Amino acid sequence: MLHVKQGIRRTLGHFGYTIFRLKPEAGPQFKHEVHSSEIAITPLHPVWPLPHGNLEISPEEIRTRFAKYGAWHYSYQFEGGLQFPVRGSDPPPPGGGHRPLQRFRHFMPYLLQALGGSLRGKRVLDIACNSGFWSIQCALLGADVVGFDARAELIEQANLIKSIVGVRNVDFRLLDFWEMSPELLGGKFDVVLNLGILYHLPDPLEALRRTAAMTR
Ligand SMILES: C[S@@+](CC[C@H](N)C(=O)[O-])C[C@H]1O[C@@H](n2cnc3c(N)ncnc32)[C@H](O)[C@@H]1O
Repeated sequence: MLHVKQGIRRTLGHFGYTIFRLKPEAGPQFKHEVHSSEIAITPLHPVWPLPHGNLEISPEEIRTRFAKYGAWHYSYQFEGGLQFPVRGSDPPPPGGGHRPLQRFRHFMPYLLQALGGSLRGKRVLDIACNSGFWSIQCALLGADVVGFDARAELIEQANLIKSIVGVRNVDFRLLDFWEMSPELLGGKFDVVLNLGILYHLPDPLEALRRTAAMTR
């Protein structure tokens, strides 16, 4: 097993990746191991419920526009008590649609620390953004975000969430992973999120190489 892990580390290292092992618990001061030393990390929580920043879209209209889609990957909640369950997922996702909030708390603190404590002004690419959960969170943290997905209805959903929240610093594009290039997306990025997509792609190592090529 150790040889397998070392082999994976070596292969990914070849593409410019380092694996960090995160401890599962997230207490007020949780820690992780990096090359056997321990680093204290400040917890970070998602902005949740999402702000309903654009009051030109009424709660009634939001309900109508959510109902238009048979499938929602995330369970969205907005200030004022508006909430929508995950739809079209059989079996339902683990954690009842709250898994993204858990994933956020699990790794975003490390990402921020790696960037000196803030995403403000950083360029973030959200590969396979779905309806934009990660893109919107990064935009709320002050990043300039590009999110893309291969499915048009998901980009529509992402733009709906963007307009309800009222953020401007996120741009959603309809794009297939294999079309992705710095030229097409306005240059390279400070942060590239490659979440929940590798297992959809036929050549994951080539996908990791292309992902790394999008970073500065
Ligand atoms: C499991 S979801 C992950 C969503 C999000 N990244 C997350 O981790 O919460 C997988 C996403 O990959 C997208 N996808 C699958 N194949 C793709 C491709 N070739 N190019 C772009 N997006 C793709 C799907 O449309 C879907 O939104």
